[in-house]
Amino acid sequence: MIRTENLCKSYRHHSHHEVRALYDIHVTISKNSFVVFNGPSGSGKTTLLNIIGTLDRPSAGKVFLYDEEITAFSDIALARLRREKIGFIFQDFHLIPRLTSWENVSYPLIPSGICFKERFERAKLLLEKMSLGDRLYHTPEELSGGQQQRVAIARALVNNPEIIIADEPTSNIDNETSAHIINYLNELKTQGVTILVATHDTLFEKIADVTFKMKNGRIE
Ligand SMILES: Nc1ncnc2c1ncn2[C@@H]1O[C@H](COP(=O)(O)OP(=O)(O)OP(=O)(O)O)[C@@H](O)[C@H]1O
Ligand SMILES: [Mg+2]
Repeated sequence: MIRTENLCKSYRHHSHHEVRALYDIHVTISKNSFVVFNGPSGSGKTTLLNIIGTLDRPSAGKVFLYDEEITAFSDIALARLRREKIGFIFQDFHLIPRLTSWENVSYPLIPSGICFKERFERAKLLLEKMSLGDRLYHTPEELSGGQQQRVAIARALVNNPEIIIADEPTSNIDNETSAHIINYLNELKTQGVTILVATHDTLFEKIADVTFKMKNGRIE
């Protein structure tokens, strides 16, 4: 379903420094699999997930989704692809500060023209699944880190994505809540969703179909 070919990424700093974040990455991910990327801080996990998720472009190499080379798509085509097919859970949540939980969760539905009532109902249902039914009207600053993380997870799911890309989805969360989130992601897998997770959390290794170990921008 997802394939990368010779993927490389360098970041240029103030014209002279160059940081190479990814070297020659080849991965193949089958539909409906649960894939975990782990490896030390700075090994390139976020960079790789952002490129696969079309949020960033590689310096060289290609990404294929269903045999289509998406690295050749325009920015507009990529934005549409993301909106329709991919749900993101970011390392630092990326919630919108002035919006309440339910507004944050339903935000990705606005471009699709879904009416207010349905947006609210879908957000409420997901927040209840995340045990946040009593936090619908709180803004992010009124929530704990783990609660914000769960709002971010609900938001990633609101479009019924085919692919979920989660960067450290349990890093701010206690073990019990982490286990709950992992079970929930696994439940989504049984519904046909493909899940890509970057994590240090060993709880994921038990349920992953594939684990890629990253080190210094390479897959070992
Ligand atoms: N925007 C950027 N500009 C310059 N260098 C960057 C940028 N983003 C990442 N890097 C560098 O790329 C390398 C890989 O970073 P990345 O964030 O992908 O690592 P990671 O495996 O996700 O780490 P962590 O576990 O800490 O989240 C690091 O050396 C980092 O300094
Ligand atoms: Mg990271």
